[in-house]
Amino acid sequence: MNLFVADVMSGRHNRRDLFRRAAALGISATVAGGLINRAAAQDATPSSLTGDLEIFSWWTSPGEAPALEALFTEYKKRNPGVNVINAAVAGGGGGPAQAVLQTRLQGSNPPDSWQSHPGHELIDQYVDAGYTETVTDIYASEGLDKAVPQGLIDQCSKDGQQYLVPVGVHRGNGLWYNKDVVGKAGVTVGDTMTQEEFMAALDKLKSAGVTGLAIGDKDSFVDAQTFENHLLGALGPDKWVALFSGDAAWDDQEVKDVMTSFTKLLDYVNSDHSALSWSDATAMIIEGKAAFNTMGDWAYGEFVAKNVVDKMGWVSYPGSDGSFVLVVDGFTKPKGAPDMDNAIAWLKSCSSVDAQAAFNPLKGSIPARTDVPTDGFSEYHKWSIASFAKDHLVGSAAHGLATSPAFKQAFYDAAIAFVTDKDVDTFATTLADAAKA
Ligand code: GAL
Repeated sequence: MNLFVADVMSGRHNRRDLFRRAAALGISATVAGGLINRAAAQDATPSSLTGDLEIFSWWTSPGEAPALEALFTEYKKRNPGVNVINAAVAGGGGGPAQAVLQTRLQGSNPPDSWQSHPGHELIDQYVDAGYTETVTDIYASEGLDKAVPQGLIDQCSKDGQQYLVPVGVHRGNGLWYNKDVVGKAGVTVGDTMTQEEFMAALDKLKSAGVTGLAIGDKDSFVDAQTFENHLLGALGPDKWVALFSGDAAWDDQEVKDVMTSFTKLLDYVNSDHSALSWSDATAMIIEGKAAFNTMGDWAYGEFVAKNVVDKMGWVSYPGSDGSFVLVVDGFTKPKGAPDMDNAIAWLKSCSSVDAQAAFNPLKGSIPARTDVPTDGFSEYHKWSIASFAKDHLVGSAAHGLATSPAFKQAFYDAAIAFVTDKDVDTFATTLADAAKA
């Protein structure tokens, strides 16, 4: 397990991480100007590269696609002779994409770069399997080694070498709402919300004939993510980390009580949830067909794409204020990339201040580089940047950062079954068994 994940999982070294992060932020203030100038200088001379660049991701939703396009635009500015192939495979959270990618990797047919989360997903699934090359030299040449917080660098590293260029940092534990819809039902949302307040709000909405919580769990990550947020809100980051790192039992009574309270939430969910994707559920709150949606802040990207930012509000998932669930996105350097020079140019482009400044406002995430000027970023982005700087950082299990690929799959399967059968004992036992395995 790499250092940052170990830090996050143990919960013991958060203070040290804060220190490192503060140091990184301090550095950014002094070197930002120089780094920006360097990025601008790189922009000035377009390369003479030709041929293709195939980029593999799962960014196809109304908010994700334009954000990906912004990365392509920056790349094409630098490399006008290269033909960019968007090989995105639809399916939020990347379940379908990752299955296609595994087949391609096993058949020695990699794309020129693929999207991955750091932590366990990157290291267990790709680095240890021998599918990636290091990007340590790119960290040095593009200044990522100085501009990215050390904690994030550690998450992208194994044995002191880096394997992922991070482009954005999502906050997974958001609760989003339509201001009009909650207002009309007489529900007030403050700066934070407790789980009791949330249940009372859902009751009020139900009496007003409004769907309280929009869920779209056709995407396999959604039930696991909703549960991980609920668990964090109920038990706090230390117990949460202990559970996902195998230091606490999934079948103890405290956890079962949270499972029981989760089943109560399901009474307020849209009945067609299993037919909808995550972005369909976000569209429900945008269109006023439901009040709340819990989602990572890629949901904010949907608000930007649909030009409804002013109509929408946010708060940390009830009870989880003070924690930031990390869902970091980045790109790999494949071993045997068909167009290696173009792939390296892609990673350099994604590393740049300009690319991260263009991408993140559209995606809902905050830049992985701390030297990206964020004055023009949205109020939400500023709120998330502040949360990242001060809150307890915990890696998402539902997005593969904090647990092994095998546990993640077991967690998905168990959460999907639980939403249907609401069988607390089976859910608890299944997770306890999976943790032992
Ligand atoms: C996450 C990914 C985000 C977003 C989300 C929904 O795994 O990190 O960037 O794309 O899935 O598709």
